[in-house]
Amino acid sequence: MDRLINSLTRLRATQLLFLTWVLTCIAGTTTPESILPGFKATPNPSVSSFQPLLNDPTGNFSLGFLRVGQTQLALAVLHVASSQPLWLANPTQLATWSDRTQFFFNGSLVISDPNTRVFWSTQTNGDTVVLLNSSNLQIQKLDNPVTVLWQSFDFPTNTLVENQNFTANMSLISSNGLYSMRLGYNFYALYAKFQDNAADHMYWKHTALEARAAIVQGQGPIHALVNSDGYLGLYQNSTANPVDVQPFNSYNRPIDLFLLVRLEPDGNLKAYYWDGSNWVEDFKAISNTCQLPSPCGSYGLCTPQSCSCLDNRTEFRSGSDCVPVETGDFCGEQLVKDKYEVLTRNGVEVPFKELMQYETTSSLGECEGLCENNCSCWGAVYNNASGFCFMLDYPIQTLVSVGDESNVGYFKVREGAGKKKNKAVAIVGLVAGGGAILILIGIGGFWTYRIWRKKTRENDDDDEVSPGPYKNLGSESSKSIEVEMCNR
Ligand SMILES: *[C@@H]1O[C@H](CO)[C@@H](O)[C@H](O)[C@H]1NC(C)=O
Ligand SMILES: *[C@@H]1O[C@H](CO)[C@@H](O)[C@H](O)[C@H]1NC(C)=O
Ligand SMILES: *[C@@H]1O[C@H](CO)[C@@H](O)[C@H](O)[C@H]1NC(C)=O
Ligand SMILES: *[C@@H]1O[C@H](CO)[C@@H](O)[C@H](O)[C@H]1NC(C)=O
Ligand SMILES: *[C@@H]1O[C@H](CO)[C@@H](O)[C@H](O)[C@H]1NC(C)=O
Ligand SMILES: *[C@@H]1O[C@H](CO)[C@@H](O)[C@H](O)[C@H]1NC(C)=O
Ligand SMILES: *[C@@H]1O[C@H](CO)[C@@H](O)[C@H](O)[C@H]1NC(C)=O
Ligand SMILES: *[C@@H]1O[C@H](CO)[C@@H](O)[C@H](O)[C@H]1NC(C)=O
Ligand SMILES: *[C@@H]1O[C@H](CO)[C@@H](O)[C@H](O)[C@H]1NC(C)=O
Repeated sequence: MDRLINSLTRLRATQLLFLTWVLTCIAGTTTPESILPGFKATPNPSVSSFQPLLNDPTGNFSLGFLRVGQTQLALAVLHVASSQPLWLANPTQLATWSDRTQFFFNGSLVISDPNTRVFWSTQTNGDTVVLLNSSNLQIQKLDNPVTVLWQSFDFPTNTLVENQNFTANMSLISSNGLYSMRLGYNFYALYAKFQDNAADHMYWKHTALEARAAIVQGQGPIHALVNSDGYLGLYQNSTANPVDVQPFNSYNRPIDLFLLVRLEPDGNLKAYYWDGSNWVEDFKAISNTCQLPSPCGSYGLCTPQSCSCLDNRTEFRSGSDCVPVETGDFCGEQLVKDKYEVLTRNGVEVPFKELMQYETTSSLGECEGLCENNCSCWGAVYNNASGFCFMLDYPIQTLVSVGDESNVGYFKVREGAGKKKNKAVAIVGLVAGGGAILILIGIGGFWTYRIWRKKTRENDDDDEVSPGPYKNLGSESSKSIEVEMCNR
């Protein structure tokens, strides 16, 4: 009996200690402002969303463990007030939220676990890690002068914050992995990956206007930057003289606002500013929802008011595709013709047809024939006024409904595909005021979505057992977390 009471009291004491730690750590008062060699941390089982490890001098930004879903972990830089992740170290490969996952600094920032050993590493030999007031995480060598060996700004995920250089060897990738933004010689563009292991498709392009300066061949590559004056600028050899300015609503406003642009999971590129309590939408590249790469999912049809299905016998259900997402093509399959059904629909267009190659054919039949006999073709859209034949070499996405009956669409549907429709894959539906919803879900939620989508696709069940939230309470491990993380 005594022993029981004893251990209960001990438990209480550690609980109390632990609670104190949680409170001080969450208050951020003891989260350090630099990390030195020897630093170690493990995820705390009782933290449900974010465990700070390093703050910037203003306290606006924090580096820490971000819990993704129940059991996964990303190392992230967060905007603290909104819990908005601005950068993730390992967006495509998440670690596990368990005490087997270690994070340490030994000159390199390393995430390791017993299975993979080194999960993620900066492969540097630095002296200190700091989080700047711009949200840039840097590994520095404390020479005279101080040099930067590695910085998170060089490895953007889906977000560019103001004054973060975006160069030709970088890309922004939406949290679901479907969309990317890259720089070209004199433009920036958005690309969709409709199919694994296949080329991606440009669906939006912004070419430099060369308004204030000209792009000069041989004067170095262009780079892009969110300027605090409220625009996305393209620059060549001078940061003072942009060759192109894409103004936001806040352009030239004399208020000091923190800005960012983000490639959203629906494929749109948006800018936001922080007004002190909310992220306010400041710009969007694609203002018409139907011009997004796939707003109504695969084999969907977009009208300004709503989504429906290309096949008028199928009812559109929000949150699922008209036909399950397909990959691959019809090549390498015997008797190609027997493997698909043909669906036709008048009055449809490809949303980004201006950026697509086309053939000119003399008839609808000729256009359809080109696609029918080509195993990498999933469909074709023919305009009998112009004779343009657009061939779609990817599984069919959303088409745009146009009143013009001179546009005729021809689509292959893999046999049996229309019947297994219950495997829902969430595609952001056509939502009025979609901005608000995106911000809402954007807070971490879509990272979950990405993983979930990947899982759905791979048909892979999560058999990982989540450590209960209080499993280690009062044990040695929570005490060691306390020492490792707060007594610095
Ligand atoms: C840091 O740790 C990693 C992983 O254990 C190791 O590969 C690397 O050599 C270490 N770096 C130094 C400078 O000790
Ligand atoms: C951020 O840091 C820079 C350089 O240390 C400094 O000039 C600037 O005033 C700081 N900005 C804020 C908002 O603290
Ligand atoms: C961005 O990169 C260019 C060269 O790539 C460099 O000249 C410029 O100083 C950088 N700007 C910032 C804000 O880091
Ligand atoms: C990316 O390009 C910049 C110059 O534009 C260069 O300084 C940097 O080393 C490049 N990074 C990589 C990873 O190639
Ligand atoms: C780059 O430098 C060259 C020569 O110094 C100049 O002619 C050109 O206008 C500059 N380009 C930009 C974009 O400032
Ligand atoms: C940073 O903190 C200051 C002071 O609390 C605040 O006024 C400002 O809005 C914050 N900036 C961001 C981007 O959160
Ligand atoms: C569905 O589409 C077919 C072919 O385009 C057309 O013949 C039929 O009338 C349509 N049915 C409805 C209910 O709209
Ligand atoms: C088949 O279609 C693909 C994609 O539309 C195209 O790139 C290719 O040239 C076509 N092949 C033939 C033989 O027409
Ligand atoms: C194109 O086809 C539509 C529907 O089949 C028809 O109404 C229209 O007259 C045709 N236009 C031309 C230019 O042939």
